[in-house]
Amino acid sequence: MKVSKRAIQMEYSAVRKLLPLATEAERRGVKVYRLNIGQPNIPTPELFFEGIRNIDNKVISYADSKGLALLIDRVVETYKRDGYNIEKENVLVTQGGSEALTFTMLGICNEGEEVLIPEPFYSNYKSFTEFAGAKIVPIPTKIENDFALPSKEEIQKLITDKTRAILFSNPCNPTGKIYTEEEVKLLAEIAVENDLYLVGDEPYREFIYDDTKKHYSVLDMEKAKDNVILIDSVSKHYSACGARIGFIISKNIDFMGYILKFCQARLAVPMVEQYAVANLLKAPKEYFKEIKEIYKRRRDIIVNGL
Ligand SMILES: Cc1ncc(COP(=O)(O)O)c(C=O)c1O
Repeated sequence: MKVSKRAIQMEYSAVRKLLPLATEAERRGVKVYRLNIGQPNIPTPELFFEGIRNIDNKVISYADSKGLALLIDRVVETYKRDGYNIEKENVLVTQGGSEALTFTMLGICNEGEEVLIPEPFYSNYKSFTEFAGAKIVPIPTKIENDFALPSKEEIQKLITDKTRAILFSNPCNPTGKIYTEEEVKLLAEIAVENDLYLVGDEPYREFIYDDTKKHYSVLDMEKAKDNVILIDSVSKHYSACGARIGFIISKNIDFMGYILKFCQARLAVPMVEQYAVANLLKAPKEYFKEIKEIYKRRRDIIVNGL
C-alpha cells in the first residue's frame, strides 16, 4: 500500500533514535545513563495528584477546545504573578508544547515557506516545521562566542520573501544559551520590520542557574505584541511530562482565532490532566528555588566531570 510523500520524508525523531540502542544495551546488563531525552526524575508535586483526586465530575466529558476554563484562569493568574499582563483570550491549552508548536507552524506556514531558527536547535523543530511543509533556515551560532546571535545584518541576509517566522527556545535546548535583553529585542525588531512571527519557546524559563543572568520573554516585547507567540508547557517546569499539557499564549487575537480551528478539530485536551494541572499551578514561586538547586548541583557535577 502506498503512503504519502509526507510520511516518507518525515524523519524519525532524533531524540528517540537512541532508545532501542539503550534498551538493547540494558538487556546486556550495561548501565545506561539516558541523556537523550529531557525526562526529569524529580517527583511531580503532590498538588498534581491532589487535583486528580478532587475531581468530582460524574462524566469525563470533552473539555472546551480552548482548554478547561479553570486551567486557563490559573494560567492567567500565574503569568500575572510573574509580571505578565495576559488575559483569558490570550491562552489556548494544548497537548504539550509539542502540539502548541505544531499548531503554530501549521497556522503560520504554507508549503515551501521558511522559518529562521538559531542553530543548534531542539531536534523536533524539524518535525514540527515538516508537518506544515515548511523549511528551517538556520541562524548559525557558535560555542566560541557562547552561542550569541549574529548581527542584525547577518540575520537579515537570511530573510527571503518566503520567510514567515523566527523560532527560538530560551533558555535554549540544547545549548543552554540564555538570550540577553538586547538579543530578544533584536529578534523582535527584525520580526516587526519584516512582518514575521516571533515564536518564543520557553519551557525552561525557570531554570537559570547563573544569578547574574535574567530571562527575557518574548512577552516582554510589547512593541512586537502582534508578532509574538509564546509556547509554554508544564512538562519540565513541574516534572510533569506525561501530563501532556502545554499552552499557546499570544496577544494577537486574530492568530488565536485561527489556531482555535485546529484545537476544535482535535476536540479537546484530556480533561483529567487539565484539572490536575489547574491544581498544580497553585504551587508557589518558591517551588522552583528548591528544584533549581537540585538541577544546578547536577549540572555542576557533569560540567566539572567533563
Ligand atoms: C525546547 C523544547 N520545546 C518543546 C518541547 C516539547 O515538550 P512538551 O511537548 O513535553 O511540552 C521540548 C521537550 O523536550 C523542548 O526541549
